[in-house]
Amino acid sequence: MEVIVKEDYDQLSRLAAEEIADVIKRKPQAVIGLATGSTPLGTYKELIRLCREKRLDFGRVVTFNLDEYVGLPPTHDQSYRYFMNENLFNHINIRKENTHVPDGLADDLAAGCRDYEEQIRKSGGIDLQLLGIGGNGHIAFNEPGSSLGSRTRVKTLTEKTRKDNARFFKSMDEVPQYAVTMGIGTIMEARRIVLLASGASKADALAAAVEGPVTAMCPASILQMHPAAIVVADKAAAAKLKGAYPFEPQRVPPKK
Ligand code: PGA
Repeated sequence: MEVIVKEDYDQLSRLAAEEIADVIKRKPQAVIGLATGSTPLGTYKELIRLCREKRLDFGRVVTFNLDEYVGLPPTHDQSYRYFMNENLFNHINIRKENTHVPDGLADDLAAGCRDYEEQIRKSGGIDLQLLGIGGNGHIAFNEPGSSLGSRTRVKTLTEKTRKDNARFFKSMDEVPQYAVTMGIGTIMEARRIVLLASGASKADALAAAVEGPVTAMCPASILQMHPAAIVVADKAAAAKLKGAYPFEPQRVPPKK
């Protein structure tokens, strides 16, 4: 995996947006995997700016989000569909029917998960997947202990993740207990992966993911096995890395 350490969050966000923009410029009908959380917000702002300045066209782009809470309707302000509409989709020229977020309200959640996998497959697979990393090393809602070959499914959220996310809800009781999430195996099939880590609260998880053993107890560590994964960290998140890492990526053209 390629590790890039940027000075701060703004630079991290700009580089992440450039990585996404590069893929879309090479392939206007690219399939992009997107993430929620605080970390990608700067990246989305940058993508919106590029689109407004007519430097990036989302007209044919297809997206698949990593995860969604079970039980929250798309209109709930903490649902990930709502988050994506508010923070990206409503501000760019993407066709809403080309945007996919797992359905956390399906009567048959297992069938919904299988269908999500099928939709990704039918779209031709994900060209670039954007990821955050949890303070416990999770990617999407694949908590520690998740099977490294897992597919899209329902997961029980750990207490740590529920507490981390409680800041967005009125009380801890309102934080959902379950989520639908792409599996680690699903994520690993993306042709290129960009994992973002910002802030000191991610330093331990990032060090474990980048320099520790590949283990289900740190799901992000599986990215060491990916042929085209890039980790973009700011200095605070990179503080516990022992290796020396560059400030700029080597430009590797994404696989078609
Ligand atoms: P954050 O979440 O971007 O809000 O820190 C990342 C994650 O939990 O995957």
